[in-house]
Amino acid sequence: MSESEVSKSEYEDSRADLQAAVITSRVVHRKIIVRLLLGWFLLNLAIGGAVLWLEIDHIQQFVHELALKESITFSGESAQDLDRLDSTTRKRLNHLAEQLVDQHFVVVELYDSNQRLQLETIRQGQEQIEGWIDKYRHRFPRKYGEFSRQFHLIKGNLFLVILVPLKAPGERLFGYFEGIYQVDNETLYEIKNDLFRTLLFVTLGITFTTFVMYPIVLTLNRALIKLASDLLKGNLELMNVLGCAIAERDSDTNIHNYRVTFYALRLGEMLGLSRENSLDLMTGAFLHDVGKIGIRDPILLKQGKLTLHEFDIMKTHVSLGIQILSQASWLGRAKDVVEFHHERYDGTGYPRGLKGEAIPLNARIFTIVDVFDALTSKRAYKDSWSVQDALDQLKRDSGSHFDPKLVDIFLKIAPGLVKEISLLGDQEIETIIRKCIAHCILSGA
Ligand code: C2E
Ligand code: SIN
Ligand code: SIN
Ligand code: FE
Repeated sequence: MSESEVSKSEYEDSRADLQAAVITSRVVHRKIIVRLLLGWFLLNLAIGGAVLWLEIDHIQQFVHELALKESITFSGESAQDLDRLDSTTRKRLNHLAEQLVDQHFVVVELYDSNQRLQLETIRQGQEQIEGWIDKYRHRFPRKYGEFSRQFHLIKGNLFLVILVPLKAPGERLFGYFEGIYQVDNETLYEIKNDLFRTLLFVTLGITFTTFVMYPIVLTLNRALIKLASDLLKGNLELMNVLGCAIAERDSDTNIHNYRVTFYALRLGEMLGLSRENSLDLMTGAFLHDVGKIGIRDPILLKQGKLTLHEFDIMKTHVSLGIQILSQASWLGRAKDVVEFHHERYDGTGYPRGLKGEAIPLNARIFTIVDVFDALTSKRAYKDSWSVQDALDQLKRDSGSHFDPKLVDIFLKIAPGLVKEISLLGDQEIETIIRKCIAHCILSGA
């Protein structure tokens, strides 16, 4: 097996790994689970809320009827105006009220047609209840023929305040009945039980449906992910083909690509770049010098310093790069970095001489890591510098060549990154970048 065959099969392996990793990606599982849980929660809230509302309405109706049944006796008992009661009628009404108070009512009151209190009976030992509910009482119906009711849950007891107009034959209003009805414990228990059971069934139903949905959504998603990962694979291959093409000419360049991509992503992370921006930055970093494919060997591989004329030709690697990117839409992401990675913060760079924040952020980020890597690497025209010398150079050129805010951040993280990368093999650096790509693409999906 020749050396190139070995690296080719390794290359295929890592692609297959990536695809497998992407398909079973925890990110996707987590996303599906989070969405299903959110759906579960919202459905419970919506359906549970609707059921609760209906049930409470139903319960109110039920209790209202219970109370009405007991209080209805008054309507039949007196047809006289309650402010002009004779003593026998008064006695009989009193007796009736006491009977009601012995049953479910805590308070029974009768008002005359002018809404003045004429008779009041309170269950013994329950006088304080009247005080608790007092502000909700005496809501006399505004329109003739209406009644009012309110429910109150006090210390575990359910009370209904009910106010019913009393009418003689011929619809003549002669007074009002007001009572505080206490739902007895047995009924209350049944009501609570009923409510609880209904809500439990609703929740169980929704939970069951959610569990059934999970494998269905997962299966559908797998097909989509397979498609996305095929697409991703194609794009990565395209990126790598382009990267390798320049590596053929200058043996170090592909590893340089991976290294600057690694630095750029880490610096981007420190700045809290969005996933979309990170993906642009990464693609740009990987392809930043793709235009060097078009630079002739005598200049690209020149051992010594370039003449001004040669350097002018070298500068065309930027426009050549943009031409290459324009051939594939996905590569358009890389445009900001490819086009502006030789601009300088003070406006003296090329090709456009953009200044300060007019230079896209991704290009400002990338310029720093590109120069840092160029300085610390050996080139045909220069030896490699020490990390400290390179960082000193960045510091010197902060504000002239580089965005000073970004340099400050990079100076803090650079020693750690260099150490990290020195411990990693080339293969491992590639793997990290691949994972980042998969992460960015899947999260954005
Ligand atoms: P490169 O080697 O990847 O360098 C990228 C950038 O790093 C350079 O952009 C420059 O800003 C910075 N850099 C590299 N080496 C040094 C250095 O020794 N001192 C300082 N202060 N900065 C350095 P630049 O200058 O626009 O160059 C673009 C590309 O042109 C370079 O990419 C390299 O391929 C080529 N190049 C530049 N100067 C020479 C040279 O003197 N001889 C040769 N053969 N090629 C050169
Ligand atoms: C930004 O451009 O919005 C912040 C990063 C910087 O310019 O230093
Ligand atoms: C990103 O910055 O979003 C990509 C790197 C990662 O978090 O894996
Ligand atoms: Fe360049």
